[in-house]
Amino acid sequence: MLTNNYQNWQVNADADQIAWLTLSKKDESVNSLDASILNELEQILIEVDQAKELKAVVIQSGKTSGFIAGADIEKFTQLKTSDEAFKLIRHGQQVFNKLAALTIPSIALIDGFCLGGGLELALACRYRIVEDGRSKLGLPEVMLGIYPGWGGCVRLPKLIGAVAAMGLILTGRTVSAKAAKAMGFVDAVVPRRYLVKAAKDYALNPRKPKHGNWLSVLSNHTAVRPLLAKLFRYQLNKKIRADHYPAPYTAVATWEKEGVDGDKVYVAEANDLASLHQDSTAQNLVRDFFLQTRLKGLGKDTQFNAKQVHVIGAGVMGANIAAWCAYKGARVTLQDKDPQIIAKALQGAFKLFQQKLKDRLKVQAVMDRLVPDVEGNGIADADVIIEAIFENLEVKQNLFQSLEEKAKPEAILATNTSSIPLDDINSVLKNPGRLVGIHFFNPVAKMMLVEVVKGDKTSDAVFNNALAFVHDLDKLPLPVKSSPGFLVNRVLMPYLMESMELLKEGYLPEEIDAAAVDFGMPMGPVQLADTVGLDVCLSVARNLTAHYGGEVPQRLIEMVTAKQLGVKTGEGFYVYKNGKPIRKKPNRTLSAAQKETLIDRMIYRMLNESAACLREGVVQDGDLLDAGMIFGTGFAPFRGGPIHYADSIGKETLLNTFQKLASQFGPRFKADAYWNTLKP
Ligand code: NAI
Repeated sequence: MLTNNYQNWQVNADADQIAWLTLSKKDESVNSLDASILNELEQILIEVDQAKELKAVVIQSGKTSGFIAGADIEKFTQLKTSDEAFKLIRHGQQVFNKLAALTIPSIALIDGFCLGGGLELALACRYRIVEDGRSKLGLPEVMLGIYPGWGGCVRLPKLIGAVAAMGLILTGRTVSAKAAKAMGFVDAVVPRRYLVKAAKDYALNPRKPKHGNWLSVLSNHTAVRPLLAKLFRYQLNKKIRADHYPAPYTAVATWEKEGVDGDKVYVAEANDLASLHQDSTAQNLVRDFFLQTRLKGLGKDTQFNAKQVHVIGAGVMGANIAAWCAYKGARVTLQDKDPQIIAKALQGAFKLFQQKLKDRLKVQAVMDRLVPDVEGNGIADADVIIEAIFENLEVKQNLFQSLEEKAKPEAILATNTSSIPLDDINSVLKNPGRLVGIHFFNPVAKMMLVEVVKGDKTSDAVFNNALAFVHDLDKLPLPVKSSPGFLVNRVLMPYLMESMELLKEGYLPEEIDAAAVDFGMPMGPVQLADTVGLDVCLSVARNLTAHYGGEVPQRLIEMVTAKQLGVKTGEGFYVYKNGKPIRKKPNRTLSAAQKETLIDRMIYRMLNESAACLREGVVQDGDLLDAGMIFGTGFAPFRGGPIHYADSIGKETLLNTFQKLASQFGPRFKADAYWNTLKP
């Protein structure tokens, strides 16, 4: 007989003697594994083992949100010592080994996300049956600075071979049910209505369980592992560095050394995770995860549903904003004064949908939602109207004046301006409170962050609805106050300007970019300027220097005049071939001290501008600022954002470095007054 008095599990045996274990984590909407769930599962498995009448056990989720999202990250980070982390990992391994050792068939019945520890639990079952549609499977632990230590790095390579397994483990990417079946770690993919039937079928008519073929066995062999490990490291090195992101390299090293058999590998993994848990990369990546969760939560509870969106301006930004809104389910009308530009925008949208949806009928359905509208007929029905026309105050004012007349009274009027203060644009409106900034970044489809800009007169209701709108687009809304450059461009600009200064002093683009990438930026400032477009950089630089002082670099002006605009013209600071910069190898090597100065000069300027933004209340707090810079610019995620990074340097060192830089390079390095508020 099975008992059924658990906090998180429902345990029932049916007439066919199948035990159904339903996980429904107490007081949570999502299942994530923690010590109490593991303890209970261990107890249940002991009972299952003893109940000789049972024919099979099925593990499923009682939550509509999905199967299991992974381990409870919050609780994992709360563990104080590496010893506590070691114990938790070991315990999880032992419970999952117990599950794997059951003599009766065990089935993971997966509907929705099955990630991290959730997939490791499923891999310990004999079969995995997955809903065909919304389900996603993966091991995203490396994104949090750790790696799968509850058997994921043992069972998955055994089952599907080391190459395919590491393809998931080292990237953290998730796959659909069908892809997982094709890779060989899912047994059956069925529509939701057949899940229970399929589970019963597997329970009562057990098939031969999947196990690795000869290639999988070979890939994990002692003689082959060093060769493959080299390949894995080579692939990792193309994207990341071991000193910045140690976890995937550690996973490879332990797999190479210990293989996939015996308890030794489990102990080694538990040791690895115990030390990674203490590492600043893991702590900062977990922090980033929570920052992202915070942004995802903004606008979540506001009742605002934009069914109809009207976008004006079908250029670089408008075209992509319209396409994204249609892709996310809204009916969109797209207006431009030039019909040919709308036609080009629709072609671009078609390409995006093809890439994303890979299904002709789905692409057609989204295309049907994106309607060309030269006359602006969609204005009267739109819930949100987004303006993305030229960056010119008077033109924008005229447009909003006419929009105010034609739009529904409750419709949001939004501008995508990157530099014009909202209160300048809305000064011509009868109801200036209706205007909000919804500032997307280029390329729209890739950039997660959207600044939602509040002018002095923007009403709270409109602002909150705008946050909700951005939330519904599956982007990360960042609330900012209307001030020149808002947050992201303002903080980024000094980084770009300092690189121009360094160029003027004779440093090479390659040297400057390499220093920034060494620090952990996704792209050096010189290449970034080329990518954004030197014309765009120049106009932002002009706008920001007009407000905050400083000089627009002469070289930038000259290059724009010469139409050397960067990637889009094939030449900027670099010459481009197939969109890639041709880098020359510098014929000198900078000393470590020189490199350090380069990094300090670029990064400290960003830190100082971040401080000024906080002091002026451009964003509400340091966490939001960090989130904005990480998700809007890729600011070294493993360092946790500019403010957190400054904090980790410590007040004294920070102020000393500012002083040193100011005495050497001028007053632009004078430490902002905000830093005095830091705790020593
Ligand atoms: P763009 O020059 O590519 O497109 C502007 C489009 O607006 C053109 O197709 C033009 O024909 C159309 N247009 C101009 N006046 C119009 C009117 N009265 N009625 C209908 N259509 C009109 O410009 P882009 O780069 O897309 O920028 C648009 C806005 O987005 C600007 O405010 C810019 O500051 C902002 N922005 C630009 C970013 C970028 O990276 N390009 C990034 C974020 C914001």
